[in-house]
Amino acid sequence: MSKINISDKIIAELIEAADKARDNSYAPYSRYRVGAALYAADDSGEEMIITGCNVENASYPAGNCAERTAVFKAVSDGYNNFKAIAIVGGNDSYTSPCGICRQVLREFVAPDEFYVIMAKSKTDYVIKTLEELLPMSFGPENLAGV
Ligand code: THU
Repeated sequence: MSKINISDKIIAELIEAADKARDNSYAPYSRYRVGAALYAADDSGEEMIITGCNVENASYPAGNCAERTAVFKAVSDGYNNFKAIAIVGGNDSYTSPCGICRQVLREFVAPDEFYVIMAKSKTDYVIKTLEELLPMSFGPENLAGV
């Protein structure tokens, strides 16, 4: 069992932000709308919620998931210290991040200290560490000294 080190208040704020970001989803092909909200800090410790939605494309592989949109927005704005992400998709199931998004998140976090909140609503969610979702992962440390 993992020890959850994030407050209920932050969890609720992240889910609300992800749900709102979902309104901007551009998903005319799959019609599967997803929003994500990252809990991030910059180098000075300032904390922020940075959101993203899925953005599809007529050339299907060019589309981007909500989680990666949020990560790329955050990093390009100077926020690359991440504590958690909330994901809201269809509300009849929990939306679990795809393998590529798990790996992209892994680049910036210690997997056992980063929480993935998969939410149907503010009160109905599943929370896992990235370590649980992506065990024995490959990260920047593996390239140290190469
Ligand atoms: N999608 C996400 O944005 N995040 C996930 O965690 C799962 C899948 C998107 C990609 C695509 O636009 C649509 O959902 C259907 O796969």
